Amino acid sequence: MSDIHAEKVLVLDFGSQTTQLIARRVREARVYCEIHPCTMPLNEIKAYNPMGVILSGGPASVYAPGAPSVDPGIFDLGVPVLGICYGMQIITHLLGGVVARGEKREYGPAKIAIKAAHGPLRDLDPTEPHQVWMSHGDRIEKMPHGFDILALSGNSPVAAMGDVRRRLYGVQFHPEVAHTPEGAAMLAAFVLGECGCRPIWTMHNFVEATVADLQERLAGQKVICALSGGVDSSVVALLLHRAVAGNLTSIFVDNGLLRQGEVAEVAGLFRDAFKLNLIVVDAGKLFLDRLAGVTDPEQKRRIIGHTFIEVFETEAAKIGQVDFLAQGTLYPDVIESVSFKGPSAVIKSHHNVGGLPERMKLKLVEPLRELFKDEGREVGRELGLPETIVSRQPFPGPGLAIRIMGEVTKPRLATLRAADAIVLEEMRAAGLYEKVWQSFAVLVPVKTVGVMGDERTYEDVIALRIVDSVDAMTADWSRVPYELLSRMSSRIINEVKGVNRVVLDISSKPPATIEWE
Ligand code: XMP
Repeated sequence: MSDIHAEKVLVLDFGSQTTQLIARRVREARVYCEIHPCTMPLNEIKAYNPMGVILSGGPASVYAPGAPSVDPGIFDLGVPVLGICYGMQIITHLLGGVVARGEKREYGPAKIAIKAAHGPLRDLDPTEPHQVWMSHGDRIEKMPHGFDILALSGNSPVAAMGDVRRRLYGVQFHPEVAHTPEGAAMLAAFVLGECGCRPIWTMHNFVEATVADLQERLAGQKVICALSGGVDSSVVALLLHRAVAGNLTSIFVDNGLLRQGEVAEVAGLFRDAFKLNLIVVDAGKLFLDRLAGVTDPEQKRRIIGHTFIEVFETEAAKIGQVDFLAQGTLYPDVIESVSFKGPSAVIKSHHNVGGLPERMKLKLVEPLRELFKDEGREVGRELGLPETIVSRQPFPGPGLAIRIMGEVTKPRLATLRAADAIVLEEMRAAGLYEKVWQSFAVLVPVKTVGVMGDERTYEDVIALRIVDSVDAMTADWSRVPYELLSRMSSRIINEVKGVNRVVLDISSKPPATIEWE
């Protein structure tokens, strides 16, 4: 594409859970990098032409049968190589050193003392100890020929090693995790200082390059975009608007399952403020008719997914000939489909518009395919998207339907919407909305007894779900202040008709999920 991709680093994945974090730290140093499986053939690696290679950690032991390896030809590419944990052990193993089976795992914080500040350690103060995070079983018994110890820790005589002449380095600890406070600086030192990449991967440059690229690729083509008001689709729509405004039609389907005020907010922003060519489809009744009597979560998802496609197709047909569908696919989705260990199990059917491009015979344009979520947000800011959209919490495609246990009806939607609006308002007022991953209300399908004044009531229960997470794969309930919970509870009970009880969900994921359905 353009030269923002010219100075790049290759991350080869051996199956570690923190491989994506390595890539994120490299990107934060403003250097472009991609993750590929460790099995990437040498000729492809050469064709990729990286300025440096990072070998990730991994769960295996280098001596285990079928242990993942890498083509040793990478050591002769003439570019710096950094092995992290398993990556360091595989370097040792392939270059004639000895890896010892650990009798006990070393897991947790450790201090390293620097013997020689080279490679990733080049910017660190060698007179001070540095905190790192260890997580390994095996360790280096004998370094390969040409390597020297760069750092040691109490439990690891070789906490970091390097062959400075060949620019090959290994660290036993994990610089990519937050528990290694100077880890980001170490990775930055490696990619900038050692590999010599310039810090040109900025979202400002990305926007310029992508807009130019889209203009070339989409010249004379008609593009449609499904706008949901979430960060990803909003950024895609704005990026395309900047590139090919006249050829872009965005479609916002109001499925009747959105939060309070959402339709007006999205329509107002994109149509009136940003001047997008936006069609707002009021399909609430159709969705609700189809959902009548349905209580099974997966069936709700299927109905909503199919109905969305149908509505979208009908609207698109009115535009006439369309060539491209724009989608907000992000880099983690791309990695997932090529990952070393194969895609992780799909627990819920999350693909809201799956099958749409094939059915409509459309080509796909996915301008965010290379970006992590935070980078997508930065692009949004770069394009002038207001913070209310940029830092929005995730909201599921099937909307409030999967937060209403049991049947989705208009009155039940109204109840949940009102309660949810209070939760969000209070989270914002407490300055916590952007600190947590998600915060929302759930309508529980039971009625309980209460008293109001002298009257006995028999009304609905609202559950509060407020969670912390980094990637939605795991989550824990947020320890928000009791005073905040108390305010939410009394406001919901006082202000939302038909609710006389509020409970708090204190389950972690796993074994629970974030959403209730
Ligand atoms: P769970 O409930 O599986 O949710 O822990 C993980 C994350 O995914 C979101 N989610 C969905 N997003 N369509 C979506 O676009 C869906 O069907 C869907 N189900 C869950 C959820 O909000 C959380 O952020």
